[in-house]
Amino acid sequence: MSATVRVPAKVNVQLAVGGARPDGFHDLANVFLAVGLYDEVTVSEADSFTLTCTGPGSVPVPEVPLDRTNLAARAAIELGRRYDIAPDVRIHIAKDIPVAGGMAGGSADAAGALLACDALWGTNASREELLDICAELGSDVPFSLVGGAALGTGRGEKLEPLDVGGEFWWVFAAADGGLSTPAVYREFDRLSPEAPDPVAAPALLEALRTGDVEALAATVTNDLQPAALSLFPSLKDTLDAGTSAGALAALVSGSGPTTAFLVADESSARKVAAALTGIAGCRSARVASSPARGATIL
Ligand code: C5P
Repeated sequence: MSATVRVPAKVNVQLAVGGARPDGFHDLANVFLAVGLYDEVTVSEADSFTLTCTGPGSVPVPEVPLDRTNLAARAAIELGRRYDIAPDVRIHIAKDIPVAGGMAGGSADAAGALLACDALWGTNASREELLDICAELGSDVPFSLVGGAALGTGRGEKLEPLDVGGEFWWVFAAADGGLSTPAVYREFDRLSPEAPDPVAAPALLEALRTGDVEALAATVTNDLQPAALSLFPSLKDTLDAGTSAGALAALVSGSGPTTAFLVADESSARKVAAALTGIAGCRSARVASSPARGATIL
């Protein structure tokens, strides 16, 4: 017996970051948008715990931990702990979301493993309990479960669904190398010691609601971008290349180093992706539309 769940990546169309809290996290106004790049997580019954991960074309993904520290493993272990079930499962992650890229790939795998274990074990946990486990696992994990678009407050885990009035097209450029999220937040603290309280921008929420791509392009912001650029200066060249190729907006995705380009439509996306493919520092350029459904059992 096995269960497979498909989970989307995300881009933050607004990431407003406040000062560091006593617990080390930052209060956010985090406008999440799920995009159509997916990991697939399969959980199967087994005699003992194992985890495997392959990228496109069945190639192993070397940067992903294959032990119980993987967030997908921790999701299975936590659900098992709550229902007194030993997590003797084989977890396989078919990965298409860039690793350590600021697109919540690890969070997606955790949400996927959780939903797959719930289906495999027949635990029938309520949506509330699943969201509670997700919030324990990481700030972005609840959004990976729900998908669509949402405003995340607190450290990003308190979600309020948002209406999206149309389809938005994106190009995502995976960088050569990764960035550590805690390191980017530390650099943010260094660069912005007096950060104001984060607030979602009404004009951006309105642009999402009406599906107006130009209005969205004029309002996207990422407070972590200066910190990501400070640690990874060559990202600026990628951002500039996407803008020159016709992107309406160019920004670092989350804590980076993946860069995100909002474009007018699918044909413009293909043009921008072609222009970014092969430039120095860009490992791959992918086209995706949004919003995308959250974690879904296949
Ligand atoms: O919650 P998650 O495990 O994804 O967070 C990873 C790291 O990112 C945290 O340890 C913290 O350094 C930073 N972070 C933060 N404020 C947030 C979310 C994450 O400082 N709201």
